[in-house]
Formats: sequence, C-alpha cells, structure tokens
Amino acid sequence: MCGIVGYVGKRNALPIVLEGLKRLEYRGYDSAGVVLWDGEEIKFEKTAGRVAALEKKISNKPWQGNLAIAHTRWATHGKPSDRNAHPHADCAQKIYVVHNGIVENYLEIREALTREGHVFKSDTDTEVLAHLIERPFLATSGPIALEDAVLDALRHVVGTFGLAVISKDDPQKIVAARRGSPLILGLGDGEYLAASDAAAIVEHTKNVIYLHDNEMALLTPQGLKIFNLSKKTLEKPVDTINWDISAAQKGGFAHFMKKEIFEGPAALENVLRGRLLEKDGVSKLGGLESVRDKLLNVKRILITACGTSYYAGLIGKYYFEEIAKVPASAEYASEFRYSNPVVDESAAVILISQSGETADTLEALREAKKHGALTLGIVNAVGSTIARESDAGIYNHAGPEIGVASTKAFISQLGALMLVALFLGRQRSKIPLNLGEKFVKELKGLPAKMEWILKKDEEIKKLAKKYLKHKNFLYLGRKYQFPVALEGALKLKEISYRHAEGYASGEMKHGPIALIDENFPTIVLATKDMVYEKIISNIEEIKARSGKILAVATEGDDRILKLVDDVIFIPQTLEMLAPILSIIPLQLFAYHTANLLGLDVDKPRNLAKSVTVE
Ligand code: G6P
Repeated sequence: MCGIVGYVGKRNALPIVLEGLKRLEYRGYDSAGVVLWDGEEIKFEKTAGRVAALEKKISNKPWQGNLAIAHTRWATHGKPSDRNAHPHADCAQKIYVVHNGIVENYLEIREALTREGHVFKSDTDTEVLAHLIERPFLATSGPIALEDAVLDALRHVVGTFGLAVISKDDPQKIVAARRGSPLILGLGDGEYLAASDAAAIVEHTKNVIYLHDNEMALLTPQGLKIFNLSKKTLEKPVDTINWDISAAQKGGFAHFMKKEIFEGPAALENVLRGRLLEKDGVSKLGGLESVRDKLLNVKRILITACGTSYYAGLIGKYYFEEIAKVPASAEYASEFRYSNPVVDESAAVILISQSGETADTLEALREAKKHGALTLGIVNAVGSTIARESDAGIYNHAGPEIGVASTKAFISQLGALMLVALFLGRQRSKIPLNLGEKFVKELKGLPAKMEWILKKDEEIKKLAKKYLKHKNFLYLGRKYQFPVALEGALKLKEISYRHAEGYASGEMKHGPIALIDENFPTIVLATKDMVYEKIISNIEEIKARSGKILAVATEGDDRILKLVDDVIFIPQTLEMLAPILSIIPLQLFAYHTANLLGLDVDKPRNLAKSVTVE
C-alpha cells in the first residue's frame, strides 16, 4: 500500500511526481506529500486527503526544481492527518523520507532514538527512518554520503520498505531502497525515476529496472547506480514496459472500474493469445515448459490467493479436478501461511495475484517453497515479486488494473486457470482430443459473448436503480457459480458499502434463509447447468418467504421469467466457462449501485488495491 515516486533530471520535477502520484493513488489515498529540491533549498508540503488536496495546497507556490520525491499514503501506523503524511524529516529538517511498508521494530528504535535526544513529530513508523539516517551525520563533522547513511539506517530495520530519501546536505541525489515493497526504476533521456509501480513512470520512459529485495539505487542527473545493502555494485538488466500510458488513463469512461469491466473481453483475448492450439485441443504455455516434467508428477494442487484472486482460485479448483483429475484445493493465503501446511515435493502450489505483491500471497509462496512444493504464479504485473520468486508461471497480460475493485483481472485469471487445467488434462490424457477441442473453441468464442452482455449496461443500471433502496443482499450460486456469488457480493460491498453475503445455494437452508423477507433481496446465479433444478428449488423457497429475486440466467430460459422478479440473461456456454460471463452483470450491478449512491467507485473507503502489508 502507499505509493512513492521520485524524479531527478532536467525538467521541473514537481508536475512529474504529482502526476505520478495520481497514477499511484489506487495504492492508498488518505494523505499525500511532496518534497522538492529547488537548487538552493528544500520545499515541502503534505496534507491529509488526496493528491488533489495536496495540489490545491501548493497551487499558489511557484516551486521549480529538478529533483523531487512524493508519496500517497494508506495509513497503517497513525491516523490519516497532516502530521502523519509523508515525507517525514529528521530533527534538523534536512533529510526527507517517503516510505511504503512497515518498520516492525519502530517502537524500540523510537525509544532508543528518543533517549539519544531525537524529537518525533508524528505517530508513524516511517519517521524513525529519517532519524536513523540522521544519526551518522550527527556523529561526525566530516562528509558522509547520503547512501551510506541510508545503508547504516537500514541495518537496524526489521520489516519492509520501498523508500526514497533526499537530503539538503547531499542534494543532487535520490536514494531508493527496497525490501518487501515494490520499487521500479525508470531510465529516461538524462532523467531517472523511481516509483512503486510502472504506471507512474510509463509516460516518461518504457525502459525500466525492477529493484529486488535488499537492493538500493542511487539516482543522480548523471546516471543510475544500483548496489546491494553491502554496497556491492550490481549490473541489472533493463526491461521494457509493453503497454503505454493510455492503458493507465480512463479513455472516455467515467471511472477506471467501468473501463476495466469493458476491457474484460480484451483481457480474456490477451491471456489466451497464442496459447490455444485448436487442432490439438490443448494449451501451450511457454511459462510452464521448464517444469513440464515436474508437473506431470504432481499429485495435488493447492491454490492460494487473497480477495478476488482467491475467488478465481475457488473456480480453478473445480477446473483442475474436472479437467485434469488432480486433487485440488484453494485456501486464503493469509490462512495458508500460518497453517503449517502439509505440502511437499509432490504438490504444486499456485499463487494467483493481480499485483504480484500482495504480502500474504508472497509469504504463502515462500512457505510453499520452504516445504519443497513446486510453485506456479498466475500474475498480472510483469516483474513483480510473486512472478519472480515462483518456480514458473504465466502472466495474465491484462494491462494495468487501476480501479480498486478487481474486475478484468478476475476474468483473465479464470482464463489462465482454464489454460493450466487444459494443459494438465491433456498432458495426463484425462480429456480426449474432441473435448479439448470443444474447450478451445468455446474459449475463443467467449469474448464475443462477453461483448453481448456489456451491451446490457443500461438495463443493468435500471436494475441497480430499482434495488437501490435495499441495504442487504444475499448472493447465491452453486458449483462453478458459487465463487461467482462470493465475488459478486464482494464487488457490491467493496464499492457501495451495502451489506452483501455470498453463499453456496445449497447452504441457504442452514442459516441465511432466516434473513429472507420482502426487504432482503437475493441475487441468484441460475444458469442452465447440472445444478439448475436445485437452484430453481432455492428460488421457490425464497419466493415462499416473500423474498425479491434478481436472477442471472441463460438466454432462452423462459421458465425462470415466471419465477423471479427480474432477470439478466447471458449467452449459453459450457458450464465451467459460465463464470466468465455471469460475473459481468454482477460487476456492472455493483458499479451502478455505487455510482448511483454518489460514491467514489475507484477509490472506496478504507481499501487499497495493492495490500503489501500483512
Ligand atoms: C486487495 C484488492 C483486491 C484484490 C486483493 C488481492 O484487497 O483490493 O481487489 O483482489 O487485494 O490482490 P492481488 O493483487 O494479490 O490479486
């Protein structure tokens, strides 16, 4: 969480870092700050609120300078307030730090530094970094390079950081360092950038270096140096970002979320592109080639992830069992990491993560590796930590997802899981050629069916209006549609703050049915599949208790029209692929509900897109 960005070069750094911050706001948006070196002195400002509030505060200040760092915060230690906003400075107000991560031992450090006479002005863990960096400067009257002081400080830190530091006494440089929180460096023409994510950089350069854990970078107008925390110089490859700034802009849509829902068909096409061989009814996954033989011997698959990615994993479990006949399970990464998991070399652990940086998923990956399991990442963000640390994996290529509520990534993750299941199923001869061909054909045709559903946007908006007065919702689904019910309910609560519970419809009688009355509507996933009749029975039970029902059903299903209050039809497809279609109306329903309520769809309260702290 939190976004940092820094710039050093020939241009005025202020608009560059402020624009960068706006692109990182999805990471946190409760306070913001900036510090700039204008060639003679340090200027800084910070405030509770969004980057727009920061811009307003400095709008009448004619600041100009070629070096700046900035921060957008998602509070962990200390409430969102002006004084807790970053940057944080040392006692002498010479050293300024912006930080993403958590200094776990900050209380101890703070007490020790207070005894030495340091005075703290905020409640944050980050402030100890500024004072720790100040320490070597206080201990000697001779010159000290800022990077050496930062190295010295980081030796005392337990926890995670992606940070950037500047100093009035050593002003022509930004020192950036990483452990556990992402940092990417941009190499422009006579200018260098550092940021939590490529979205803040891509407008200026596509040439980037991904900083790894325990690495540090020194950015000056003359160039970029990278070394490890023992100060050994490192040569690192320069990567190229393969998308451009338009992917990180709204492109005519009112919100990123809406744009990203409408990018669902393209997201599916992109994850499938070049990976389906229709004539062999199989998928071809370059990222799994190196572990092909190991995969063949795997006896069990465990999928682990957080949030929306976890719900995709629940569907993946069915895919692996049905298509590849491999025992599979899915577990929250936050549970898996502390569960003393019984996994070993005979298991494959699949990590699903849009950002590739979610702290719990990353730790689950490390735990799985410790036990000798084969680890596979399904990750959207190229170069991210989970992608790098997994033994093998596949990228989603869904492009940046900026709306906090995940939408196109979910669709892309289902596509990726299907590809892996197909790969395993054919590799293990568990599905015949004709069935493989059928899957491949249907997958290829899905984007067009998704477009058909997206045309119902206005119709779904009207339904959102109709149900707007309700504050509680039950979402029901069974088998493949059960995780869709969970995800649909998550979308609604995340952005509209309506209470929504996703439930396996078979479990309805074991509790939730007690909630049903005319004020507690149910959204039922009632597509034509092997459990359709069971769902119809649930619908009857709800009706008998005067519950209102909005159903997502298969086009042509006239029977359902007579049973429920409202229906959104989706096209017919194979039942295991139906979630890729049925989630779209639920995403749009949540979007319109939040929007009609006048809420900030892209930046819902208390949430952040990339949860890099535990
Ligand atoms: C946060 C986001 C969710 C996301 C989850 C997992 O909670 O708000 O949208 O599903 O993290 O993120 P990941 O990047 O690992 O998929």
